[in-house]
Amino acid sequence: MQPPTSVSDAASDVLNLNLSDLEGFWTQSIERRHTAFNTLRERPELPFFDQPQLWFTPPGPGYYALTKLDDIVEASRQPKIFTSGKGATSAADMPAEFLEFYGSMINMDDPRHSRLRRIVSRGFTPRMLDALTDNVAKVATRIVDEVIENGPCDAVSAISAKLPLTIVCDMMGIPASQHQLVFERTNVILGAADPEYVPDAENIVTALLSAGADLAQVMRDLAAHRAAHPTDDLTSALVNAQIDGETLTPDELASFFILLVVAGNETTRNAITWGLHLLTEYPEQRATWLADIDGVTPTAIEEIVRWASPVIFMRRTLAEPAQLGGQQLEAGAKVLMYYWAANRDPKYFTDPDRFDVLRSPNPHIGFGGPGPHFCLGAHLARREISVMFRELLSRVPDIHATAAPSRLTSAFINGIKHLPIDFGTGGTR
Ligand code: HEM
Repeated sequence: MQPPTSVSDAASDVLNLNLSDLEGFWTQSIERRHTAFNTLRERPELPFFDQPQLWFTPPGPGYYALTKLDDIVEASRQPKIFTSGKGATSAADMPAEFLEFYGSMINMDDPRHSRLRRIVSRGFTPRMLDALTDNVAKVATRIVDEVIENGPCDAVSAISAKLPLTIVCDMMGIPASQHQLVFERTNVILGAADPEYVPDAENIVTALLSAGADLAQVMRDLAAHRAAHPTDDLTSALVNAQIDGETLTPDELASFFILLVVAGNETTRNAITWGLHLLTEYPEQRATWLADIDGVTPTAIEEIVRWASPVIFMRRTLAEPAQLGGQQLEAGAKVLMYYWAANRDPKYFTDPDRFDVLRSPNPHIGFGGPGPHFCLGAHLARREISVMFRELLSRVPDIHATAAPSRLTSAFINGIKHLPIDFGTGGTR
């Protein structure tokens, strides 16, 4: 397939811009990223990039980068044309051997997707969420108790990673003794391109397969136990046909668990960590939030998710030719929907680079565009982030970062690996 324009060539004159260049683009400053996406958004044609060259998967045809909110919403609304099941939702197609662990519903189309989503969404009903909220509050209180007790720390390991990990594991019934294993394996899955998690780039495939196998084993063992001894956790519900007579097969359950821990942990963790960084960078926004914690929290949480956009993009693949953004795209074309860029689209967001805890309206698409794959955990994530910030702002109101965030090397997750924090003297127990 011959793309109409290749921006990897054309834009190099302007900005030397290549979204497939992990080191050259994604490790650069966030400010440079803003400028680059603004430039792409202003182009009359959809920018096209060659795919990153990965030795374990064929090179593929390249991809169009969607940077306008309207284009991403339009693509998300047409899942029969802009499909998720052809290859993957990552830029490169998933190698066949990955499917055993990573072939989950996020990479499927109907009718398979709707069957799985129907079954698992019973774990995310308002009643289930209300039951979880008590647990979220208890876990957040315990985390802040420990922070006050132990003093200055790395916010990622001491605060942001702990809450979502504990909640997802508790939901599924994973015992506390295995939480650390889940934490380490999910770091590998979404941080595979970062040398801190996978030091030898040659070993990415082995590292990913072995992390997937370990997590699948945790779930298979638990499922076997819950089939015989059901409790009130989600694993018991999913293996015991209590739900409309439908159950997940052991493989489906393992892939769902991997999706859940990966999708539910890294994203929420990064939203909380970016929030702490932003509170440090914008003291006047902290003051506004502190002046009315309950009143401001709902808009502040949406603004954190918009500004951080923890999931940078999802991919869709065209099942048939279609028009998008005034351009004709061919069947088989890949589009990368850059939520991160859409959430700074000046058509919808005034002064988009600014962090504004009172921003309203805030039609961000950090949890995905409107469509069948819209984040299953959005309500849960909002509750987790809200509860954590209420707890932090009321008990350690001076909490602030003491250094710049150490960012994850990734084109997919807007991640922070470490953020040192302090909170002055005291803290309310
Ligand atoms: C700030 C936190 C979060 C963000 C930014 C986020 C973002 C996203 C995005 C962008 C998608 C893809 C939407 C699409 O393709 O249209 C997604 C899907 C998904 N998310 Fe989240 N998410 C977050 C938290 C969570 C949590 C806490 C859970 C569960 C515990 C979760 C579970 C899922 C699942 C299962 C999917 C796949 C849905 C499907 O394919 O039908 N997410 N999320």
